[in-house]
Amino acid sequence: MSGDMDANIVLLGPPGSGKGTQASRLSKTLGLTHISTGDLLREAIGLGTPLGIKAKEYVESGRLVPDELVVELIKEKVGGAGDGVLLDGFPRNLEQARMLEEIVKIDAVINIDIEEGELVRRLTQRRTCKSCKAVYNLDSNPPVMNGKCDRCGGDLIQRSDDTEQVVKERLKVYRESTLPLTEHYQRKKILIDIDGKGTIEEVYQRTMRSLEPLR
Ligand code: AP5
Ligand code: MG
Repeated sequence: MSGDMDANIVLLGPPGSGKGTQASRLSKTLGLTHISTGDLLREAIGLGTPLGIKAKEYVESGRLVPDELVVELIKEKVGGAGDGVLLDGFPRNLEQARMLEEIVKIDAVINIDIEEGELVRRLTQRRTCKSCKAVYNLDSNPPVMNGKCDRCGGDLIQRSDDTEQVVKERLKVYRESTLPLTEHYQRKKILIDIDGKGTIEEVYQRTMRSLEPLR
C-alpha cells in the first residue's frame, strides 16, 4: 500500500510510544504532511523566538505548553498544509481537541498503546540528530557510527526532557490530560488502537493495515 492519502490523522500515545518514529515513515508512504508540535516547539526554543522563550520552561520540565500558544502554531501549520496532515503530539488535552475540531476534520486517531516500563527504557536510550532531527535508539535502532547520524553525519544528542525525572512528569501529564482523549475519540468512532509492542517495522505494518479502510 502506498500513494497519497487525503485523510487527516492524529497520532496519539504516551511519551516514547513511537509517534515520531512512525509518523516519519507513515508520512512518506502516505504523502501526508507530518506536523509535530514537540519538534516545532524545540525548534522555536533553539532559535530563541518569542514562542520559544515562552515555551522553554514548560518543555524542559515536562509540562504542557499553554493551549493558546500551541493552538496558534497548529492553526498556522495545518492551514498552510491543506488536507492530508499527520498530527504528532497534538491534541494533548480535551480543550485542544475541541479547538482542533474548529480548524480541520479529523478522519482517524491512531492510539499507540504500550506499557510504562518499556517507555522509560526507550526514552532514556533515545538519541536525536542535532541537524536533521532523525531519531535513534541505543538499544533498538542504533546509528552505524557511534554518536553520528546515518542520514546526515550530524551529532547525536539526548533531549533535555529525556532524564528519568522529567520522563516521570511527562508520563503523569499524559495520564491526567492526554489519556482521556482516547474515550473522546472512541465516542466519535474514529479511534484505532494499535499495539505498540514489537519492532518499529511490526508497529508500522500494523498501523498501515489499520488504515486500509480509509484508502
Ligand atoms: P513531544 O516531542 O511530542 O514528546 P512526547 O509526546 O513526550 O513524545 P516523544 O517525542 O518523547 O516520543 P514519541 O512517541 O515520539 O517516540 P519516538 O518515536 O521518539 O513533546 C515534548 C514536549 O513539548 C511536551 O512535554 C510538552 O512540554 C510540549 N508539547 C508538545 N506538544 C504539545 C501540545 N500539543 N500541547 C502542549 N505542549 C506540548 O520513540 C522513542 C524512542 O523509542 C526512540 O529512541 C525510538 O528509536 C524508539 N522506538 C520507537 N519505536 C520503537 C519500537 N517499536 N521498538 C523499540 N524502540 C522503538
Ligand atoms: Mg516525538
